[in-house]
Amino acid sequence: MRGLLITLEGVEGSGKTTVANLVAENLRQKGLTVTVTAEPGDTSVGRQIRQLLATIDERTAWTETFLFLADRAEHVAKVIKPALERGEIVLCDRFTDSTIAYQGFGLGLPLEWLMQLNNIATNGLVPDLTLLLDIDPEAGLKRSQRETVFERRSLDFHQRVRWGYLWLAKQEPHRVKVIDASQPLEAVLTQSLRLVEEALARWR
Ligand code: TMP
Repeated sequence: MRGLLITLEGVEGSGKTTVANLVAENLRQKGLTVTVTAEPGDTSVGRQIRQLLATIDERTAWTETFLFLADRAEHVAKVIKPALERGEIVLCDRFTDSTIAYQGFGLGLPLEWLMQLNNIATNGLVPDLTLLLDIDPEAGLKRSQRETVFERRSLDFHQRVRWGYLWLAKQEPHRVKVIDASQPLEAVLTQSLRLVEEALARWR
């Protein structure tokens, strides 16, 4: 049986990584096999791409996009697809929607092309559920302790990314579920678990 692909998306400091780990812990306690993974960077090629992306900001928008897509192609082939074929639940911290939100809405590249490129990089793989942890980027950036190329981009850029995500949720309401990430972690986790349970019920 094919596994279940759940992705987590959101602006910087939205708490995706924490929620992914807590959801995984909860599912494992129920005896399910879970792979937690992230983009960019969860393969040996990906780790080098991540390093490049975080440190070298002299690049065109398309160069940046193709680096994310190269990372994604490798990640799908080497990590996500094999785990799904083993019937596991895959929790992926960022995936195709990040490219639409950041490179499409943030940098202004054409959405249609990005969607086609995502489709090529993933070989048509679409998440079963996407948890969109929505927070005002100003609050998110305050929470985030990092100082990479991405955090240094303007608040305006991050606002566009947020609107991009909300636009995606409107386009695909059955897949992309918006969670208010400004709530206390416990509330965010409860809502996330409820949505994951619903996806599991459809899957079983
Ligand atoms: P992270 O903060 O979740 O580790 O992700 C690293 C950065 O990469 C984050 O600022 C979002 C950005 N990103 C894109 O711009 N496009 C993408 O397709 C992906 C996967 C991430």
